[in-house]
Amino acid sequence: MNRNRAVERVFLIGARGSGKTTAGRFVAERLGWQMIDADEEIERRAGRSIREIFDQEGESGFRQRETEVLRKIASIPNCVIATGGGAVIRPENRDLMRRSGLVVWLTADPEILWQRMQSDPRSSHQRPALTALDGLNEMRTIVAQRREWYAQCADLTIDTSGRSPQDVAQMILDFLARTADELR
Ligand code: S3P
Repeated sequence: MNRNRAVERVFLIGARGSGKTTAGRFVAERLGWQMIDADEEIERRAGRSIREIFDQEGESGFRQRETEVLRKIASIPNCVIATGGGAVIRPENRDLMRRSGLVVWLTADPEILWQRMQSDPRSSHQRPALTALDGLNEMRTIVAQRREWYAQCADLTIDTSGRSPQDVAQMILDFLARTADELR
C-alpha cells in the first residue's frame, strides 16, 4: 500500500481455506464497499468454471486470465477483493496489488486449512488439483512454496487459527482506521 494516500481497496491473499471470501464480505459490508471474488469474476468472464479452464487451457491459461482480471479490479475504487490462493505467484500480480491497495495475508496451519476446505462444499467439484499430491500433502507443499510470495506482498498478516471471520474482519477494519489516522 501507499502510506501517503487513502486506501481505496483491500486485497485478501492466502491459501485455499484461509477464509478470504467470508472475512472479505464482512469488511465490505462494514465499509459499504463492493465485494469482489476474483475467482468468480474469472468464471463470469470466461463463462466456464475454474476447473473447466484448468482442464481446457492448463494452469498457465488460468493464470493469464487471473492477471487480466486483477488488472481490471485494480482500477475499481472502494472494493474488497478475495483473490485466488495462487494470485501471488506472478511477480506482476504482487506488484499490482501492492501498488493498488492494502494487502492482507490470512494465514493458518496447513492442517487447519485442509480441514476447512473439506467442510467447504465448493472444494471437490470446483477446485482443480494443483499438484499430483493428495490433499493435506498438497496443502503443505503449496503453503511452503508460496509463503515467501505472500510475505513479500502483505501489509498486514493475520493468523486466522481460532479466530472467527468476524474477528478477522474487525482486525482489518482496525488497521484501516489506524492508517487513516496516520494520514490526518
Ligand atoms: C488456486 C486457488 C483457488 C483458485 C484456483 C487456483 C490456487 O482459489 O484460484 O483453483 O492456486 O491456490 P481459492 O484460494 O479461492 O480457493
